[in-house]
Amino acid sequence: MGSELIRFSVAMPEDLLASLDEYVARRGISQNRSEVIRDLVRDALADEVWEKPDELVAGTITMMYDHHTPDLTRKLDEVQHDYTHEIITTMHVHLTHESCLEVIMLKGKSKKVHEIADKLLGIKGVQQGRLTLTALGDVL
Ligand code: NI
Repeated sequence: MGSELIRFSVAMPEDLLASLDEYVARRGISQNRSEVIRDLVRDALADEVWEKPDELVAGTITMMYDHHTPDLTRKLDEVQHDYTHEIITTMHVHLTHESCLEVIMLKGKSKKVHEIADKLLGIKGVQQGRLTLTALGDVL
């Protein structure tokens, strides 16, 4: 399975295509239609992994937050200490005086990894949280 880009044509109702173009426009000038569709396909595949709760996955949780938010860093730490088997490492960057960027790398069963992401990203004050997953399938 290469990462070479393959062109193929897609038939789509006119109004759906118009909605797609509006969506692309909202995402900003940095992404074109193809890039947005690729992201949507990846998201859909990640969702499918969720439907297989015992599938082994590896992934990252990316989140931003203001570390001045009361109790936030303590809550984030507490969740991470509950999942020491899944969480491989955490990278923390102090972006500005207020903002922190944290990237957590993890692996384990899909349901567990989603559970961790839901807990962390659901904490009040966490902004721009995102879980990215890769199915490990037969790799392990
Ligand atoms: Ni920080």
